[in-house]
Order: sequence, then structure tokens, then C-alpha cells
Amino acid sequence: MRTVLVLNGPNLGRLGSREPEVYGTQTLADLERDCAATAAELGLAIDFRQTDDEAQLLAWVHEAADRRLPIVLNPAAFTHYSYALHDALAMRTAPLVEVHLSNPATREVFRHTSVVASVADGTVAGFGVLSYQLALRAIAALAEQTGG
Ligand code: DQA
Repeated sequence: MRTVLVLNGPNLGRLGSREPEVYGTQTLADLERDCAATAAELGLAIDFRQTDDEAQLLAWVHEAADRRLPIVLNPAAFTHYSYALHDALAMRTAPLVEVHLSNPATREVFRHTSVVASVADGTVAGFGVLSYQLALRAIAALAEQTGG
């Protein structure tokens, strides 16, 4: 079964209590369960991870490149300024979908820039947990197209 890395950046470990009016009341564990169920429907397995550490996130992106694993990535605040993350993702060897729970385009101006979008196959934002489900669907379709 094809494995998809579902990577989550800083502060997403606080879901459930973090600004629930923006991010909802589901915890990261709830989100992981939801992603696992969607993946199972699509015939995929997920490896779901979260870190607040940019170096750790880069190491996981390098690992994905070496193992040719597709990624669903919520880069959280790194979205808006991490050129190191952009450069790491530029080395990817499999599909990449950027995902956000909220819609950054409707929020503060600093969130309107994504340094990840230009190296992703696409972005899903603004649908809460559904953003992740749609991203997994996109990965399944892309993997099919590329024979992966
Ligand atoms: C986020 C949006 C980012 O702007 C923010 O820094 C996050 C979460 C989202 O999922 O909506 O931490 O990526």
C-alpha cells in the first residue's frame, strides 16, 4: 500500500485549544484519525507527524525525497517565510499538496504569501479538516496519473 507522509508544522500540536474560532475544536489526534480513515478509503496508508522544529521538518522532507513518498503538508507559519523549506521541497520526488485549515488569503497580510505554493502540485485551504481529506484525494489521483 502506498504511504503518504502527512506533515504538520508549528503550533498545530495545539489544535483543539488553539484559537478554536479559526482552527476548530478538533485536536491533532482527531485530525490524524480522520486522515487515516480517508486514506483507508483511498487505498493509502498515512504516516502522520507534527513538529514545531524547522530542522526536523526539513529532515522529514529530505526523507520523503529519498523514499519517493508523496506529502500532504501543512507548513503552518513556515508557509509564509521559510525559504529553507521551499528549497527542501524543490527536491521532492513525488506529489506534494499544501494544505491549510483556515484560508490564509482572508487573514492578515503576512499570511497572503506562501513560499511553498510554487513548489507544490496544488493547495487546499479554508475547509478545516476537509482540506486534508481533499488533499489526500488529490495525492491519490496524482499518484495514479504518475503510475506511483
Ligand atoms: C495554517 C495557516 C497559517 O497561516 C498559520 O500560521 C498556521 C495554520 C492553517 O492551517 O490554517 O499555523 O497553516
